[in-house]
Amino acid sequence: MYETWEELEASIKQCNKCKLCQNRTNIVFGTGNKQAKVMLIGEGPGADEDKEGIPFVGKAGQLMNKALAGLGLNREELYIANIVKCRPPSNRVPEEDEANACLDYLRNQVLLVKPSIIVLLGSTALKNILGKEYGITSARGTWIEKKGIFYMPTWHPAALLRDENKKIEFWNDLKEVKKKMQEFI
Ligand code: URA
Ligand code: SF4
Repeated sequence: MYETWEELEASIKQCNKCKLCQNRTNIVFGTGNKQAKVMLIGEGPGADEDKEGIPFVGKAGQLMNKALAGLGLNREELYIANIVKCRPPSNRVPEEDEANACLDYLRNQVLLVKPSIIVLLGSTALKNILGKEYGITSARGTWIEKKGIFYMPTWHPAALLRDENKKIEFWNDLKEVKKKMQEFI
């Protein structure tokens, strides 16, 4: 556990704890408000994120940003990070050893931000944070409280690009998040 953001980021920049270090251009640390009430957790960097070092800047991210903006949830008010900080080849799902190697960094980020609400974007985030027994199709859209943090699992933004119906559900889930935020002002 690092007490400062600088130490944490510096250690990730040099990290070679898993094989994903071999092909990265940039680590994708995380971005946003370091005192955010709401944290968003994705899966891992894609090609655009690897190039820029910033999460959710590609096509899926732009769609997510539009939904957030539509609800008056400014990206800058939130903190956004991923399960793995280095891009998996061909955007495959992070393997168990990779996710496990990287999770301490995310836990450290959660400890520093101290969010009240965590939005889990897709199956990889859900299973690695809350447990393998959860499935995204049945868990999405429902609040799960653990150790004082409210978790909202929802679709990964990339899934919205493939299925229009999921856009509506994603929107509804974010609306729930917006509502719940009022409890923590
Ligand atoms: N998909 C993710 O899960 N995270 C990103 O940062 C970009 C795309
Ligand atoms: Fe280290 Fe995480 Fe990158 Fe693996 S994905 S090399 S654990 S920073």
